[in-house]
Amino acid sequence: MNFNVAGDRLVNEIEELALMSDAEAPAVTRVVFTPTDLKAREWLIARCEKAGLAVRQDAIGNIFARWTGFQPSAPAVGTGSHIDAIPNAGKYDGVVGVLGGLEAIRSLQASGFRPKHSIELLVFTSEEPTRFGIGCLGSRLLSRTITAASARKLVDKEGVSLEEVRRDAGFKGQLEDVPLPDGYYKAFVELHIEQGPLLERQKVPLGIVTQIAAPATLRLSIEGAGGHAGGVLMPDRKDALCAAAELILAIENAARTSGAADTVATVGICEVFPGAVNSIPSRVQLSADIRDTVLGRRDAVMYAIEAACQSIAAKRQVSIRKELLNADAPAHCAPAIIEALSRACLKHQLLYVPMVSRAYHDSLFMSRVTPAAMLFIPCRNGYSHRPDEYASPEDIARGVLVLADTLATLAS
Ligand code: GLV
Ligand code: MN
Ligand code: MN
Repeated sequence: MNFNVAGDRLVNEIEELALMSDAEAPAVTRVVFTPTDLKAREWLIARCEKAGLAVRQDAIGNIFARWTGFQPSAPAVGTGSHIDAIPNAGKYDGVVGVLGGLEAIRSLQASGFRPKHSIELLVFTSEEPTRFGIGCLGSRLLSRTITAASARKLVDKEGVSLEEVRRDAGFKGQLEDVPLPDGYYKAFVELHIEQGPLLERQKVPLGIVTQIAAPATLRLSIEGAGGHAGGVLMPDRKDALCAAAELILAIENAARTSGAADTVATVGICEVFPGAVNSIPSRVQLSADIRDTVLGRRDAVMYAIEAACQSIAAKRQVSIRKELLNADAPAHCAPAIIEALSRACLKHQLLYVPMVSRAYHDSLFMSRVTPAAMLFIPCRNGYSHRPDEYASPEDIARGVLVLADTLATLAS
């Protein structure tokens, strides 16, 4: 089968989508269920419909755009990713898998290929944890990793519940209806930028993901005692921010001393109360993200953080409350899809390397309900989650070519 990827159309669409942002270009901020996210969804649905795909959305806002195969009752072959973007992000994270997935479908349509299994583009709601503190909301619900009841309890920073936010956004169905029926998909493949530097360093255009690291998120609330920055003498202080500073370094140290490159830990949020220069911080909330490909090693970091909380609380006479938001197992990608991706690379004479995904993706959860795998393309300097994130048109087109070929194999 011969088909052409319309690289220019795809790059133009990536640029157009990037303009739907709450940050000034080149930064992209698109938080789930904000007016900007809703506008982007509408734009995307129109593009899918223009391609002749049948579009539906579920109660959490996952978008399914289906190219119906000639055996419509057979399990579908899925591809896709997300279009939400963390504050001050770039234009490629997630988007390459969504618009690239759409382009793969359009290039197969243009080639005259007719799929036996339907091919479905899936756009997941809130892959990013920005609003509700937990990532991959859409795929967690699809895969029954989170129950509808637990999802309903999630609230955003303003204290507004997910239930209210999604209903206001127009998604009024029951969350209980979101999980996929058994056997819904035959396979799922996600195209994504690497978000790390390895492909670029090795000068290899493609990475086939064999494993996705296990992520965990902790919210740590430190309660000390506030007071006047001039009046309270140093021996009398219970400064919550100083305790938080020690804890942040202890978290970094726990990951650094694991001895494995795949162990990483990050404190990405630090909220200080009351946040006045002449007031001793009485309360601090930290969010920590801990990941590893080996569950035991990831959990060893979690135990080290627990020990650090206890010793810092005792030493500094503060209280530290720990809330576990998620602790997921790693995923192993499906050998049959890895094989299909490798064959597509060989057919197009493209070099690839097997690799681990240290970022999490909706495929982590999709792999619990269907055979799943991922294809990575390089991104400049490995940059991601920042405005200067960049993937070249050539790399994107190569990724889409291999994705399209793999979808054709899996859907035949
Ligand atoms: C996904 O955005 C991640 O943080 O890995
Ligand atoms: Mn991301
Ligand atoms: Mn992503």
